[in-house]
Amino acid sequence: MTSVAGDPFLTLGIETSCDDTAVAVLEGPRRVLAAGLSSQVEDHAPHGGVVPELASRKHQEAILPLLHQVLNRAGIRNPARELHLVAVTSGPGLMGSLLVGVMTAKALSQAWEVPLVSVNHLEGHLFANVVAHGDLKPPFLCLIVSGGHTEILLVRAFGDYQVLGGTRDDAAGEAYDKVAKLLGLGYPGGPVVDRLAATGNPEAFPLPVPLSGSGAVEFSFSGLKTAVLWVLKRLEKDGLPVPVEDLCASFQRAAVASLLEKTRVAVEQTGVRQVALSGGVGANSALRAGLEEEGARRGWRVYLPPRDLCTDNGVMIAAAGYSAFRRGIRCDVTFAPDPSWELNA
Ligand code: KG4
Ligand code: ZN
Repeated sequence: MTSVAGDPFLTLGIETSCDDTAVAVLEGPRRVLAAGLSSQVEDHAPHGGVVPELASRKHQEAILPLLHQVLNRAGIRNPARELHLVAVTSGPGLMGSLLVGVMTAKALSQAWEVPLVSVNHLEGHLFANVVAHGDLKPPFLCLIVSGGHTEILLVRAFGDYQVLGGTRDDAAGEAYDKVAKLLGLGYPGGPVVDRLAATGNPEAFPLPVPLSGSGAVEFSFSGLKTAVLWVLKRLEKDGLPVPVEDLCASFQRAAVASLLEKTRVAVEQTGVRQVALSGGVGANSALRAGLEEEGARRGWRVYLPPRDLCTDNGVMIAAAGYSAFRRGIRCDVTFAPDPSWELNA
């Protein structure tokens, strides 16, 4: 990642929308000076999912020590003099979690007298690609697959987005997490299902590809999760052992096939052949490999951010905030977090 020559603009990015407290300092549009993350996975795992009240308490504990650590690592001794912008996620996400980041960012911006920009978490996810790929220019499509969202965006320009379609029910990451729970694999489920699927037979169970052939950019994962549940019930009834790897692989085959099919539909609808991936499920090996294969077969230019920029992080928020600031966007301290902030034109 290189910096833009002559752009020593430093942005502090703060992300607390769900269960990761993340802070980063970015120089210019893409150069990461320091990034830190405090994960709450161990706190939520015993509950099988994110407990909102616990999440906000943990953000509260983690945020200031993490901030100090990241500023130190970035070599920033006097933030009021050295930083140019504070960018913070203010939705969508959990209200209690968002509030911790937003109130911290407001306080820092006031105390340091540094401008503040509020960032949409999904716009943040798409900016992981901007950080990772200096040559990526709109128009492009962005498949955003996270624990809370599954949508395909047409990025006409930075700041000008059209949501081509989204999920009718569960998000892709939510489906991974729910299937992992059914199989007793713990939380979060995505990474473990991904790992186990690698040694399973994807054809072992003919699970349906959701909304296949509908011709629209739309997703649905709750039926697929229920199909896994029915397989488990049948195995139990027949007194058979659960072939966990095969079931993970079969679920993943159907989920990834749906994501790839709808991406094809989005390319056909728009004629845009640059395709970027983002969000936590963007770390999935089968999805990454599948998208690269589709790209090679169909002549698309495919952009994959590194895995640590797919899952929630502060870098992507700093990058989206920097871009918004350069486009003239400013926020005063009166804005409030919006847990259901839609990203749309
Ligand atoms: O983007 P993210 O970090 O947080 C949200 O904004 O939701 O995404 C988290 C989601 C979780 O559902 C997690 O299980 C899923 O991303 N995930 C994965 C993988 N790594 C994380 N899903 C499938 N395969 C993975 N390797
Ligand atoms: Zn996210």
